[in-house]
Amino acid sequence: MAYIEIAGGKQLIGEVNIQGSKNAVLPILAATVLINGITKLNHCPRILDVYHMIKILEAIGCVVTWEGSSLIVDTLRLNTSIVPEILVKKMRSSIVLMGALLGRTHSVTITYPGGCTIGARPIDYHLSAFQKMNILLEEKEGQIYCTTTEIKGTDIVLEFPSVGATENTILAAVLAKGKTRIKNAAKEPEITELCKFLNTAGAKITGAGTALIEIEGVDSLYNVEYTTSSDRIVAGTYLAAVAGTGGEVVLKGVKCSCLQSIVRVLQEMGCTIFCGEDYIIISSSGKLKAIPFIKTMPYPGFPTDMQSQMMSVMMRASGISKIVEDIFEGRYQNVQEQVKFGADIKVTEREATIYGVTKLIGCEVYASELRGGAALVISGLMAEGKTIIHNPNFIERGYEDICRDLRCLHADIRYVS
Ligand code: EPZ
Repeated sequence: MAYIEIAGGKQLIGEVNIQGSKNAVLPILAATVLINGITKLNHCPRILDVYHMIKILEAIGCVVTWEGSSLIVDTLRLNTSIVPEILVKKMRSSIVLMGALLGRTHSVTITYPGGCTIGARPIDYHLSAFQKMNILLEEKEGQIYCTTTEIKGTDIVLEFPSVGATENTILAAVLAKGKTRIKNAAKEPEITELCKFLNTAGAKITGAGTALIEIEGVDSLYNVEYTTSSDRIVAGTYLAAVAGTGGEVVLKGVKCSCLQSIVRVLQEMGCTIFCGEDYIIISSSGKLKAIPFIKTMPYPGFPTDMQSQMMSVMMRASGISKIVEDIFEGRYQNVQEQVKFGADIKVTEREATIYGVTKLIGCEVYASELRGGAALVISGLMAEGKTIIHNPNFIERGYEDICRDLRCLHADIRYVS
């Protein structure tokens, strides 16, 4: 079985380009279904979740081809709105195809995606929004059958600023009759990116990035070429890695603007961070101060997708750090692996208390989900001696080539198949 091997205890020095954003590209790939034509998407990351979304698009009749790091999606021969169950179960974020297929074909059949390691991941907000938009839902043996004669724009108030529910509602509203207003909408940069893509293709969306998004239905969208921004969580992961190991690194092709909450925390811990036009320079002694309290929140709060990586940095900070994980109930699974490095972490319900230790020791650990796996890489880089990380496939879901990127920073890390 494949694994990642790290010889830790070295500072990170150098510069690295940041890949395209996974959580921007996935909803945009779904959105291409609303365009009865061709989309060219530049700066697409070659990650497992993108390969998976491509398989789903091909299964419904689209033709998808790579041109370097660009994806060409041709939906002219789309021939079904039934999404293959096996593909949905393997990647729950494919649920965002519902809104796009409803907008394109006025129907969709899809299975409940189910939960994953980090949480139950229900989709009730998505379904209740669709029902308000004149979409009929029927659930039978785990499948959801949705049909409509016409999607009607209306006011939707989200109980929680859910990223996926905001995206699905936007996608259903773009070709609807009339105006849809989403109140308490998610403000993540990936929402802004999706709306920018859709407006480039002729949609009429205002308010992206705020809690009130308005979508004026249009008759059709047209072919478009679009370049996605860099992945803010990949950038945040590498910032955390440098913070923990010490060193000086330039992250290229990324802005501080969507990383403010992470930059602030790392500066408080003692890192020096310079924000350039489209690069970030971070330097760290590797000897950091603990952070008394961090709570994961919807954007622009501290992102849940950076919680595990920050925990790694806190494990060797001087003092006691506290994290409250307020978004996903299962996001402390990774702690049982982290303590193998010699970390001292106590978890009660949603709160983790990290008592900084002076030394971490390399060990053998098992990744069980994407961001927890990335956090184990950071711990391995910080630890003295050798670390083996099993199940690297979880990390490959969101990181194009974490070993290649970290070797650019002179890490002693390799993928062993
Ligand atoms: C997106 O997931 C991201 N995934 C996640 O990133 C990210 O952690 C999350 O947003 C929060 O920022 C993609 O963009 C592909 P939510 P999503 O709907 O849309 C509850 C990663 O590591 N909820 O904002 O599924 C839900 O249980 C991944 O890249 C309902 O109760 O997140 C959770 O507690 C992990 N009912 C909270 O809302 C619903 O109908 C936030 O979920 C929907 C959500």
